[in-house]
Amino acid sequence: MQMTDEVWTPKILAFCCNWCTYTGADLAGLNRMKYPENVRVVRLPCSSRVNPQFVLRAFQNGCDGVLVCGCHPGDCHYTSGNYYTRRRFMLMKRLMEFAGIDPDRFQIRWISGSEATKFKETVTDVTKLIEKLGPAGKTGERRGMG
Ligand code: FES
Repeated sequence: MQMTDEVWTPKILAFCCNWCTYTGADLAGLNRMKYPENVRVVRLPCSSRVNPQFVLRAFQNGCDGVLVCGCHPGDCHYTSGNYYTRRRFMLMKRLMEFAGIDPDRFQIRWISGSEATKFKETVTDVTKLIEKLGPAGKTGERRGMG
């Protein structure tokens, strides 16, 4: 019998808008800021591009947390994209409850291109939050509506 001493680390998917947060993440990298390695960044043209299906599919495919980041309200490159994102966020939280997934596993933040430190702190905080919640799909929680 083989024993494994693997330590669980959460898998987090971060959808970042190209114009602000992705630039902030890039800046964090350029400045060699350390942040948790378990976060995978997906670059999108705008935070409003995140379809609720992307989020549910991420959980179905083994993610423990999903983070959506975009420009600060009023700064969206497409004028009002992040206002749609903000509205969708509230609905998404309810959908997750309905689907049996802890809504805290889904987070949204506004981070500009110059806020590398904020990106680092956000990713660190969200990782700590998800670590507290434990692996998705445990303790009776489901992994999406499928
Ligand atoms: Fe960044 Fe729309 S372009 S949120």
